[in-house]
Amino acid sequence: MERQGTSSDSLSSRDLALLEKANAEALKTSWLMTAPNPRVGALALKNGHVVGRGAHEFLGGMHAEESALRDAGAWPRDSSKPLGGYVDEMVVTLEPCSAESESKRRAPCVKALLAAGVQRVLVGAIDVNPQHRGRGLDALRERGVKVDISSEPLPFLVSNAAFSRSVDNLDRPWVLLKWAATLDGKVAAPIGGPKWISGEESRKEVHRIRALSDAVLVGKGTLEIDNPQLDARPSGGMCESQPLRVFLGGGASVGSSAAVFSRPGLRLWVLGAEESPSDALEAGMDSGEDCVIKVEKGHHGLDIRALLECLRKDFSVKRLLVEGGPTTHGTFLSEGLVDAVLLYRAPKVFGGGLAACQMDELSAVELDASSVERRILGEDSREAFQVRTIN
Ligand SMILES: NC(=O)c1ccc[n+]([C@@H]2O[C@H](COP(=O)([O-])OP(=O)(O)OC[C@H]3O[C@@H](n4cnc5c(N)ncnc54)[C@H](OP(=O)(O)O)[C@@H]3O)[C@@H](O)[C@H]2O)c1
Repeated sequence: MERQGTSSDSLSSRDLALLEKANAEALKTSWLMTAPNPRVGALALKNGHVVGRGAHEFLGGMHAEESALRDAGAWPRDSSKPLGGYVDEMVVTLEPCSAESESKRRAPCVKALLAAGVQRVLVGAIDVNPQHRGRGLDALRERGVKVDISSEPLPFLVSNAAFSRSVDNLDRPWVLLKWAATLDGKVAAPIGGPKWISGEESRKEVHRIRALSDAVLVGKGTLEIDNPQLDARPSGGMCESQPLRVFLGGGASVGSSAAVFSRPGLRLWVLGAEESPSDALEAGMDSGEDCVIKVEKGHHGLDIRALLECLRKDFSVKRLLVEGGPTTHGTFLSEGLVDAVLLYRAPKVFGGGLAACQMDELSAVELDASSVERRILGEDSREAFQVRTIN
């Protein structure tokens, strides 16, 4: 038996070409939709011919292997697992997952491949997550499946910087900062100015991005001024459950008429150690829809790092969307706790008003220009970047 994590000595030119094709499927996807999961592509084969193609397109969605099995007709809609006889070989850019846990959104791919009767799996790279590394391959080999691995994993990992970064920070969620700004970089108009900055198409996408998140956070200023509902209302049917809504401060003064109370779903209020929840919040705690955690003071307001560790450990939050305001964004950026930023830019100029990030010290945030994902949404342009370094 080949040892865990070792690569096959050399792959045939056919295998290399198949891996390249599987990678082309992965590259059609967007890290903004999959992170902190990797972008993965797969091909399903029968008797040496490609009969199905697939990719992992969004967090919580089908894994690439499942998508390829369904494309091959091996996994009917009404069946909980694939049928045997349709596929005998799977080519996949990343090691198939094997872990089962309650917080996981999909069944392990190793089980699906075994149910489908796959006899050989060709893998581009081993999963760098120490919780998985090589386990999926071992599980397949133990059941008699032949496993071959590329000796050059780099091409399959290079497009997965967001995933690799999340693996380096397993003690906290992957953090995405989002704002909508005018052409002169303002996220709020002077008093009495317009409320909305971005257009309807941008706002629709934001609901989709919220639905992909395990939690959505805003600061006290945004809660008080914008009075958001903060739930996910995507037009498609992707939103099986609502993200946890997290409020940084604000729980000591929030009143019962706040819009957040009009929407069902768990709300988490982050208060300072000395603060007491308001009466409205006490009522929500009694009904089980509101929960309070207390954190100590950090470098800038409440201790964000401690909060993030708590979100990951106690609330299984792997992807966090931070929706402002500028003081909150500034804290996350100053403390080096941001993995990516998402900016909706509207064709407006406010002149006065608030800039997107309030940082009270000289901090430069460098974004990875090669990671940019751009879209035009109605009259707005949208850009997403992964963060490279923070100085
Ligand atoms: N265009 C957009 O995308 C967008 C998005 C969101 C908001 N906004 C606008 O932004 C404005 C509100 O932003 P804001 O900067 O005033 O408020 P904010 O960032 O929403 O909230 C900041 C407040 O949260 C509390 N807080 C506790 N711990 C903190 C920490 N570690 N870091 C940061 N804040 C912490 C502090 O309140 P205490 O000092 O009282 O403790 C702080 O003043 C509104 O005008 C809103 O319309 C625009």
